[in-house]
Amino acid sequence: QIELIELNTGAKIPSLGLGTWQSDPGLVAQAVAAAIKVGYRHIDCAQVYGNEKEIHWPAPMKKGSVGFKPENLVQPNIPSTWKAMEALYDSGKARAIGVSNFSTKKLADLLEVARIPPAVNQVECHPSWQQDKLQAFCKSKGVHLSGYSPLGSPGTTWVKSEVLKQPIINMIAEKLGKTPAQVALRWGLQMGHSVLPKSTSEARIKENFDVFGWSIPEDLFAKFSEIQQVRADLTCEIYFHGSIVKFYDWWFLLQARLLRGTSFVHETYGGYRTIEELWDGEI
Ligand code: A2P
Repeated sequence: QIELIELNTGAKIPSLGLGTWQSDPGLVAQAVAAAIKVGYRHIDCAQVYGNEKEIHWPAPMKKGSVGFKPENLVQPNIPSTWKAMEALYDSGKARAIGVSNFSTKKLADLLEVARIPPAVNQVECHPSWQQDKLQAFCKSKGVHLSGYSPLGSPGTTWVKSEVLKQPIINMIAEKLGKTPAQVALRWGLQMGHSVLPKSTSEARIKENFDVFGWSIPEDLFAKFSEIQQVRADLTCEIYFHGSIVKFYDWWFLLQARLLRGTSFVHETYGGYRTIEELWDGEI
């Protein structure tokens, strides 16, 4: 039942995986066990999630450092990191190697110098952050796009996501007799992505796996293009008592890239002085 997607190395990746970011360390083992029982064979994990004793952003940290302190940031040298990844692939320890949180530009720059092209770019992707440009670029280069936060991270307190409340998604869910979460996941699968919903609830782990053997019909699928993608450079200006109030952040919080990577940006430390530099404008 689970679909496998062939990567550019010939290795296959299951199209549905379990996200573990923000899974409580006390709950993650249980959630992974429940997921494997249900049939999951793709688990997204990382040392920075703090629930594992690997990495992750195009922003390296000092060796052995823990946490997102700006002074831990070091200048990125992506080509040299990639050489180490290629050595892992050559050694047979990894059947495919990939990147995460790469903008179209960073991916293009890496493809210029890579001996072994990345198989995957794992990025935030959901109906309210569809990443059309990156998606088209990945497709043209044979790089698989794996989507994290495919439900829009509804449990994250410091971002406010409306993906599961999105009216178009709810309308489609109602028509198809599915849940909004299943519809959001199915959108990703039909886009050709793999999706990594996080859950520590057995019922929701099962619900999120029930996305095979049915599909969103073409007429309804077309509706996703109507979901507003708010860009950071779109600000909402309102006149209030004669002065302009910018609802810049408010827009961010409503619909946009949820995970902006502000921890990897610093005036003096590391390689990125602004959010625009980190994402090469794709914010
Ligand atoms: P929980 O772990 O309690 O199930 P994302 O993968 O986009 O980051 O979203 C993860 C968040 O969505 C978590 O808070 C998770 O809570 C919740 N979640 C996971 N599956 C579902 C679902 N099927 N319906 C509603 N919320 C879900």
